[in-house]
Amino acid sequence: MSEQQKQGWLEQRLPIVSAFRREYIDFPMPPNLNFLWNFGAFATIALGFLVISGIFLALNYTPSINGAFASVETIDRSVAWGWFIRGLHMGGVTMLFGSLYIHMGRGLYYGSYKAPREVLWLTGMGLFVLVMIIAFAGYVLPWGQMSFWGATVIVNALGAIPVIGQPLSSLLFGEAPLGDMALHRMFVVHFALAFGAMAVIALHVAALHVTGSNNPTGVPTRKKVPFHPYYTTKDSFGICLFLMVYAVLVFFLPGILTLADNYIEANPMVTPADITPEWYFAPFYAVLRAVPSRLGGLLAAAGLLLVVVAVPWLDRGPIRSARFRPMIRLGLGAAFLAFIALGIAGMQSPDTLWIWTARIAACVWFGFFLVLLPWASKHDDHFRVVEAD
Ligand code: HEM
Repeated sequence: MSEQQKQGWLEQRLPIVSAFRREYIDFPMPPNLNFLWNFGAFATIALGFLVISGIFLALNYTPSINGAFASVETIDRSVAWGWFIRGLHMGGVTMLFGSLYIHMGRGLYYGSYKAPREVLWLTGMGLFVLVMIIAFAGYVLPWGQMSFWGATVIVNALGAIPVIGQPLSSLLFGEAPLGDMALHRMFVVHFALAFGAMAVIALHVAALHVTGSNNPTGVPTRKKVPFHPYYTTKDSFGICLFLMVYAVLVFFLPGILTLADNYIEANPMVTPADITPEWYFAPFYAVLRAVPSRLGGLLAAAGLLLVVVAVPWLDRGPIRSARFRPMIRLGLGAAFLAFIALGIAGMQSPDTLWIWTARIAACVWFGFFLVLLPWASKHDDHFRVVEAD
């Protein structure tokens, strides 16, 4: 049999089978990855569930202020399996953000952002911002009280940006008060960007495959193992656990993470007692509220993420993994706790205690990224020498 015949009909015309084999079956992996390396796969699976359940939800959803709330209620109560599809969609968002926060924390801890993985890091951050926009737009769609008032807070915050703020906010939401135009645009943004995110995931994984995976030591391992069967087995086991947690959310606790106010139809004449975001936006909301000026709050909230985008350039040290960087380990631990504190503060009423908690936590976060990390990374070599002595 000739070489060409051996390759098969499809392979000769489109070498997709060999590409798949090279990238996903034989791909050389470090042998020592721990369970934190499962979370990229979890995020991918969660996004897959969101897209599929979203397509089914869209079949019954009405993007108009007179029909949206009722159509969502109908999906929940009358459409066959509607409660399940909506539960998958709402639970999926929590699973996605939960996976992403751990995925990013893993990257920060093990220094996976360092050269030559900067582009991988930037595509990841691009994905995170996309997912945030998609989630925000999606939250407007049921047209409940929190949808309306949450979106109003963001419109006001955007309006504070000099020069482009007002035009940008009317482009995205139409004129105030929010109405049909805003809802329709958010529906299109929500739907269209979800497919954009899938394309960026392909870029993200392509960038990962240029360098290959980092590992907990941060030092490239000489020994490698093929992705299959080692990591297909490990990922499958992890995915089973992930699906179990997801199933508990969908079947046993469907309303646990939803704010009760969003089961009341939007009413521009009645402001809810507290406007609180979903848990995954809470750290950013806490910072937005903690700064007395509107523009300052917006910049500080954006800054929470921007310092993470810039981390490959803020950290110039030669050592990658925090395992071997005691100072970074401590600082990063404090920054992670500060982020959780911001999340808690963002979900409370804006009284003095929580406003100050947010201010202190934000100082710890920025202090780590802008002061301790650049300083300690300059001294990494020094610590190594002292330890060796
Ligand atoms: C929807 C969003 C995302 C998806 C679906 C996704 C998916 C993945 C997958 C499947 C992997 C390989 C498996 C793994 O290492 O866990 C990976 C690796 C990686 N991702 Fe993401 N990711 C997303 C967002 C992010 C974000 C927000 C960041 C941080 C900026 C990020 C940074 C990285 C890094 C640095 C790696 C390489 C890890 C290493 O080898 O140490 N990703 N991602």
